[in-house]
Amino acid sequence: MKLKSYWHMYKLKKALKNKSLLPVVILTGAGISAESGLATFRGQGGLWNGTPIAEVCRPEALAENSQKVLSFYNHRRLDLIQDSVIPNVAHEALASLESILDEVYIITQNVDNLHEEAGSRKIFHIHGQLLKNRCGNCKDITYSEQEIPFPNYCIKCQSNNSLRPDVVFFKEQPYFMPECASLITNAKVFIAIGTSGLVYPAAGFVKQAKQNGAICIEVNPNVSETSKLFDFTFREKATKILPYLVKLIT
Ligand code: OAD
Ligand code: ZN
Repeated sequence: MKLKSYWHMYKLKKALKNKSLLPVVILTGAGISAESGLATFRGQGGLWNGTPIAEVCRPEALAENSQKVLSFYNHRRLDLIQDSVIPNVAHEALASLESILDEVYIITQNVDNLHEEAGSRKIFHIHGQLLKNRCGNCKDITYSEQEIPFPNYCIKCQSNNSLRPDVVFFKEQPYFMPECASLITNAKVFIAIGTSGLVYPAAGFVKQAKQNGAICIEVNPNVSETSKLFDFTFREKATKILPYLVKLIT
């Protein structure tokens, strides 16, 4: 941990003293899984540098070029199921936080399953989950680690080429918005980890949490779009800070 982070940890400890800290609401983004070997979206080596968002992450793209969209997410799925991709100590620290304290909730923009693998249970996947297929016709959702082929076929409603990953595209409504609104309103501590703060609605959560009186903490080695709104910022990788942060809160 950097010297500056020790200082911030000390100040945070004072700020949390004698305060009720629950519920703790955690927002995670691609950065928390970077140290598990999954690429982030933006920045060096980011997924959106290699493939323009518009080509694979909007409903029109799926309609116009299903094969390309499916192929992109099939590759992501293959990346995720590699044996080497496992939860890191940041995921594990959050799972241990949940096991010690009652009201700990994770809102994640990540479509990987590393929070679950680490043992967290109260997770809201607002952008869906990569290891699930959804039928665009009957809305049936099934777990799958296989590639979605093209052409494909839904065994439930018998429609052709209606399968897609259960991942939210731009312009589509994210999942769990009412639940998130209530969590953010009630949060006493709000921690954002590894997110660039560029994609709404998640990017707006810190403002709302702050307006409702939460102590807001950011963990990100780089300045994010919303960094200025946080009360405490740790400019470090998630694995460096989370074990200390969890110890401080529990
Ligand atoms: P981004 O790729 O936009 O941002 C990742 C953030 O993680 C950056 O701010 C990095 O500085 C930070 N970061 C990198 N390594 C880190 C580490 N070891 N520890 C902590 N932070 C680290 O990812 P998101 O903010 O999650 O949506 O992106 C938001 C949404 O944009 C995604 O859910 C996805 C994407 O388009 C959809 O596909 C709908
Ligand atoms: Zn169907």
